[in-house]
Amino acid sequence: MRIAGIDLGGTEIKAGLVNESGILKKVSTSTEVEKGSEKIVENIVKTIKMLGEKVEAIGIGSPGSIDRKNGIVRYSPNFPQWHDFELGKKVYELTGKKVFIENDANAFTLGEWYYGNAKGCNDFICLTFGTGVGSGVVINKKMLFGKDGIGAELGHIIVSSDGPMCGCGNRGCLESYASAKSVARMAKELVLKHNNSSLLNRVKDINEIESKHVFEEAKNGDFISKYVVEKITDLIAKAISGYIHIFNPEKIILGGGMSKAGNELLNPIIEKTDMYVMKSFKNTYKIELSNLVEDAGILGAASCAIYGMEE
Ligand code: BGC
Ligand code: NA
Ligand code: ZN
Repeated sequence: MRIAGIDLGGTEIKAGLVNESGILKKVSTSTEVEKGSEKIVENIVKTIKMLGEKVEAIGIGSPGSIDRKNGIVRYSPNFPQWHDFELGKKVYELTGKKVFIENDANAFTLGEWYYGNAKGCNDFICLTFGTGVGSGVVINKKMLFGKDGIGAELGHIIVSSDGPMCGCGNRGCLESYASAKSVARMAKELVLKHNNSSLLNRVKDINEIESKHVFEEAKNGDFISKYVVEKITDLIAKAISGYIHIFNPEKIILGGGMSKAGNELLNPIIEKTDMYVMKSFKNTYKIELSNLVEDAGILGAASCAIYGMEE
């Protein structure tokens, strides 16, 4: 098996040659979104060619709503110019290989299943905390797609009716609190209001505050950072308890850039979720961090092709 896994980001395209045991070779190039759709496709094809060896199929993970059956990007927050864009067809025409396109978090979920902490699980959920909050759900050994293939957007569950604006146009989605961007924004607003926080020692400009600073300073005892971590882990736990009640999963796996915060993110979520689940669900599930780290995107994308070919 030789699959090209393409992690299609807004700034960088990361590609890997993948087989049963993992990644054999990695390359990357800049996406050049500003140069338009054709250029992005060209850059994707360039990375596939850079992988050199004969690939059997291509898997691509992209944020947003993907029509996986037809390889069409319906809508993607990274690529606002792509509405009903036939990405699969274009890459196929230029490479002659089978192309499988999937939502980035679904891809991550398949990667966890084939290569990560969800190996051997029949029922599990993955949540990714990055620029957005993404998710994938596997139930009874099948990925949950929904009628149009765009389901399992667990990040857009509304956790507060008067919360911050979300990129999707609603207010108070989990993503509007718990994405890396949202965490940084909440901390910044509080620092501006109280002007007393060790976060100020971490950056030259207050706009440079990132979610990783917030988790680190929470550990160091900073009041504002502790408040933000408390607040967002509470909302995440409330959402997760809801997912547990709906899906009765064996595992919930947390990934995405923000999961690098490690136990600072994980432990409060474990504690609070235990508090919010119904008694009958207590100790029926495990919440864990992803162990795939930097390779999650490529392995996930390749896994879309593996899953697609088996379907
Ligand atoms: C999008 C998802 C995506 C997630 C992570 C969300 O805002 O709606 O489709 O999976 O961000 O990129
Ligand atoms: Na998804
Ligand atoms: Zn939303």
